[in-house]
Amino acid sequence: EKMKSGVILFLLFFFLSSLSGEQEEVVFIGEKGKSILLPCLGLPDNAPLLRIQWNKSGEILVSHVNTQPLSSGHLSVLKNGSLSFTNLMLIDEAVYRCVPVPRNDSLSRNILLQVADGPAILTADIKPATRLSNGTLYVQKGSDISFECSSESYPSQNLTWVLDDAIKASITGSSLNFKISNLQPADQGIYTCRAQNLLSNRTATWTQELLVYYVPDRHPNCSWEEASSPDLVHFNCSWFGGYPVPTLQGVPEITENIGVTLNRTMLHDGQKITCKGQHTLKLPGSEKSCSFILKAPYPVGEPLVATVEGSNLTLSCTEDKSLPPAKTVWQKGKNQENIVPSSKYIINIQGPVITLTIVNITKEDEGVFYCWSENVVAAKELPVYVTVKSFADRSGVVVGLFISVVIVVAGVTLGILAYSRRDRICLSTAFEEDRTDVLSLVESDEEEVFHGAVPRLPPLSNGYGPTHTTTMVEIHQIQSSDHEDNVNDTDQAEE
Ligand SMILES: *[C@@H]1O[C@H](CO)[C@@H](O)[C@H](O)[C@H]1NC(C)=O
Ligand SMILES: *[C@@H]1O[C@H](CO)[C@@H](O)[C@H](O)[C@H]1NC(C)=O
Ligand SMILES: *[C@@H]1O[C@H](CO)[C@@H](O)[C@H](O)[C@H]1NC(C)=O
Ligand SMILES: *[C@@H]1O[C@H](CO)[C@@H](O)[C@H](O)[C@H]1NC(C)=O
Ligand SMILES: *[C@@H]1O[C@H](CO)[C@@H](O)[C@H](O)[C@H]1NC(C)=O
Ligand SMILES: *[C@@H]1O[C@H](CO)[C@@H](O)[C@H](O)[C@H]1NC(C)=O
Ligand SMILES: *[C@@H]1O[C@H](CO)[C@@H](O)[C@H](O)[C@H]1NC(C)=O
Ligand SMILES: *[C@@H]1O[C@H](CO)[C@@H](O)[C@H](O)[C@H]1NC(C)=O
Ligand SMILES: *[C@@H]1O[C@H](CO)[C@@H](O)[C@H](O)[C@H]1NC(C)=O
Ligand SMILES: *[C@@H]1O[C@H](CO)[C@@H](O)[C@H](O)[C@H]1NC(C)=O
Ligand SMILES: *[C@@H]1O[C@H](CO)[C@@H](O)[C@H](O)[C@H]1NC(C)=O
Repeated sequence: EKMKSGVILFLLFFFLSSLSGEQEEVVFIGEKGKSILLPCLGLPDNAPLLRIQWNKSGEILVSHVNTQPLSSGHLSVLKNGSLSFTNLMLIDEAVYRCVPVPRNDSLSRNILLQVADGPAILTADIKPATRLSNGTLYVQKGSDISFECSSESYPSQNLTWVLDDAIKASITGSSLNFKISNLQPADQGIYTCRAQNLLSNRTATWTQELLVYYVPDRHPNCSWEEASSPDLVHFNCSWFGGYPVPTLQGVPEITENIGVTLNRTMLHDGQKITCKGQHTLKLPGSEKSCSFILKAPYPVGEPLVATVEGSNLTLSCTEDKSLPPAKTVWQKGKNQENIVPSSKYIINIQGPVITLTIVNITKEDEGVFYCWSENVVAAKELPVYVTVKSFADRSGVVVGLFISVVIVVAGVTLGILAYSRRDRICLSTAFEEDRTDVLSLVESDEEEVFHGAVPRLPPLSNGYGPTHTTTMVEIHQIQSSDHEDNVNDTDQAEE
């Protein structure tokens, strides 16, 4: 039945004591432009209505003998005596009273008709902000934003700004503005300005989704992961901490996907891998990137190692160049078999250094070992040749060492002696006290041999060594062929 297209919107009974204290007033609230029906209070039950009169503010509004409906302008009296308003106006606001015949005075009441208007012309804005194609607004984090809302209502209204379900501001009045300085992600959400007519409770709302965009503080993060095969690599690039999620541009293609798998054929030593991040807010400096330069492996170590049988030999290999970090292993033999750790082979990895300890090394361990290093860019090996000396070799070494010590000692002794007798340079019969000293200079390719006295050298004053009367220089000229014979003269010194 719909009450004639919802003619009565608000039908509320407020029983208020009148000033006389005897009569109670009934309040009806209508809205401007709408319809309302005021019932005739005081009409006895089941009695035929003979005459009807409606008073408005103590004045006769309509008096009607006929019980047929009566219509006049925007109001009419129905068969049952009810007073009907269409297109209610503010001037209709008044105290009404039905005066029927017959009448039950104990039921008769005054009716207060109140007319509410609005809220109307609700306007709101959030500024400054940028509108997306779907109507959502966005602002940059840290900005100062003002929220403005205004509306008209009669007799009064309540204006409220709500973020999601939280009241941000409220007022009874025609406009409500507030500001948020240094807007933060927590300020993001659905903003509603609600105007409520305090008489009719009719509400009007304006809603707007507001997003707070921000660029991540940090740079994108480039990382890599091992892939299923050594000639593949999985590069990741992430740029967290921004809203909306920024787009990433990797190599070789632009992708929103943050992972890319690359094949060795696409990579080379020294290649720069860059990941660029681009944020919707194309602010200066908002495009950030991370990059790294690919480096082929380069294992470093001593290529030649010698040791003695029975000892423990530790080979060391350093791989700190490669990027992404290489996998480094020790291999042995021409077939380059990977060495499996055992009681014989101890492998130790400390940072970039990988060591191989061969326990109780034997002659059979002699040969080539490889430090094999591989990353996605390339593979490189460092061959290490190991020589193992047996115990026999070791005794030989000891004897050799002894002989060399003897030679050194003898040399030193000779040197001291030569120094102490530096007035005479003795190359012949140097240890015979009674003889004159002879200096033999040997030249080849000349026939003659000169013998002659030379001036005496001054005697040593400090008393080193015995005194001598003459000093003789003997100059031999020898031929290559008879060299042996002449040597005989000075054999002691030569030795
Ligand atoms: C009077 O009549 C109208 C229409 O016929 C109806 O809507 C209304 O409820 C009636 N009022 C009373 C008090 O019976
Ligand atoms: C209705 O109005 C008339 C005219 O002013 C007045 O004489 C009468 O007493 C009023 N009736 C009631 C019940 O107020
Ligand atoms: C008047 O109304 C009252 C309350 O409904 C009721 O008790 C009384 O009987 C009625 N009187 C007549 C004459 O209808
Ligand atoms: C509008 O678009 C933005 C960005 O694409 C999205 O975050 C937001 O949820 C959308 N809003 C609506 C109401 O669809
Ligand atoms: C106005 O609305 C707010 C929020 O709904 C409420 O807290 C406040 O009491 C209301 N004021 C009045 C006068 O109704
Ligand atoms: C308006 O809302 C208030 C609080 O909810 C309530 O007391 C009052 O009766 C309502 N008024 C109308 C006309 O609905
Ligand atoms: C980069 O990403 C890696 C892997 O997710 C992580 O371990 C590292 O801490 C990140 N670095 C920074 C600076 O966020
Ligand atoms: C790299 O990205 C893949 C997917 O693309 C993901 O499964 C993996 O966890 C990411 N690794 C790191 C370290 O972020
Ligand atoms: C890497 O690329 C080469 C040439 O494009 C191809 O032959 C090879 O199968 C690829 N390797 C993998 C593991 O996809
Ligand atoms: C060689 O290594 C083994 C195993 O670590 C150890 O028991 C042994 O003492 C070491 N020998 C020498 C001479 O260092
Ligand atoms: C080292 O090896 C030799 C030959 O295999 C063996 O005789 C010796 O007992 C081993 N020494 C140690 C300490 O294991």
